[in-house]
Amino acid sequence: MSAFLIYEHDNTSHKITKLSTHASQRIYDEKAEEQHHASMSHYRSIDSSVIDKGESHIPHFVSYIHLPIQQLVLEIMAIDLLPLPLPESADPTKFTNFGREVKGFDPATFSPEQFEELKDALYKYDALLFRNVDMTPEQQYALTKAFDPASENYGHGNKQTEADKKSILHPDLKTIPRVPQVQLIGNGMVYNHEGLAEARLKHPHHKTFHKTIVSQEDEDKGITRFYRWHIDAALYNLSPPKVTTLYALNVPQGPKQVVRYDDESGEELPVPLGTTAFVSGRTMFDILPKELKSVAARARVKYAPHPYVWMAPARAKSTGLGIESDGLESSFNDLPPWEESRRKLYPVLWKNPATGELSFQVHPCGVAELLIDPIPEGKPRDGALYPDGAHLTDLKEVRDLLYKMQRPAISPNLVYPHDWQEKDMVLFHNRGLLHSVVGAFKEDQVRAFHQCNLAASDEPTGPTPEDVKIWA
Ligand SMILES: [Fe+2]
Repeated sequence: MSAFLIYEHDNTSHKITKLSTHASQRIYDEKAEEQHHASMSHYRSIDSSVIDKGESHIPHFVSYIHLPIQQLVLEIMAIDLLPLPLPESADPTKFTNFGREVKGFDPATFSPEQFEELKDALYKYDALLFRNVDMTPEQQYALTKAFDPASENYGHGNKQTEADKKSILHPDLKTIPRVPQVQLIGNGMVYNHEGLAEARLKHPHHKTFHKTIVSQEDEDKGITRFYRWHIDAALYNLSPPKVTTLYALNVPQGPKQVVRYDDESGEELPVPLGTTAFVSGRTMFDILPKELKSVAARARVKYAPHPYVWMAPARAKSTGLGIESDGLESSFNDLPPWEESRRKLYPVLWKNPATGELSFQVHPCGVAELLIDPIPEGKPRDGALYPDGAHLTDLKEVRDLLYKMQRPAISPNLVYPHDWQEKDMVLFHNRGLLHSVVGAFKEDQVRAFHQCNLAASDEPTGPTPEDVKIWA
């Protein structure tokens, strides 16, 4: 597929200004076609240093035309988007706006124009897959940062503080020394890797986090769990990253496993070994009944201070979607020093910056309180839940309500379990989906991934007053 960018070109200053982008639109007419041959040689001599002085950087182009009105038409290779290969378990009607494989875009080197196209695709489809990628940690950081140029630090911060060391995330992350925003994650021993002489990696196992566990006998048969459904976010002091990049360097091969939900549903999901599972936040909202959509549109969640330290002693549900309410969380008084003003209070629904759609974005493990606004004036209150609003502080009540709203979206037909191949890169919209580590490896199965996300320069946006009027 081709795209055309129109540039205005000033013959005196050689300044080039981008006027518009017309993807897939053949804009040159017969007259332009004639001019094309006449002007090729002239414009072939524009060197990149001249182009770089202009207001727009010109991408790799294959041809250009000088029009009488002093426009340059540059033909570039545009990106192609193909549907992701869905497993049999997935309902394809629920994935029409989720996930695409990207062709014709090199994540390691790209032009600003190509990036704009990629950004549109990401916010439209939330998860993008690139195959056969060669990418250094520096290039991965550059791609991740391009989505939020003012962001700088890793999503959980770059410093090793007391809170970091007590966090349940601590053992899972090894920082690449040259590029501390990129983490080495995976399983087994990795040697001489990007400046790390030796790294012992541990794929998170549900037995370290869930209240109940799969028996060894069942695990030997390949039964497993979703480890923890989450958004990549510190949820205290730092803002949730806009995107995450996951780059697969070593992918051990092995038989498929089966995720058992181990709740009253009896649901199971066959998954590739070591899959990462994704569910759409849009779908999570879309499939709710009217009265729960109303609650979601009116609700905000307040996260605990240092939520990963707070939740460390507690144990998760068998679906990996939140914590069992057994009173095991740390007391706020026993946490590392914290300030009320640094706690995070977020709307339950986050607005997609490109499409305006609403995604249900709650990291259920870290939530301590739920605040629900009353039904707006003029809206019918019949059948409404919490019509006068509520401030829920009872952990069990908070978690039960969130679980009721989130659990339907992790059913097998709505999960995309990615089947990793070496050199796959998945770029996902961290403010538009939830994901989970899945499965269990043996110690000699070496898996190495590079992960990058950056604490954002802004906070997610909630529903507008108009959105609330529609859904409340
Ligand atoms: Fe994650």
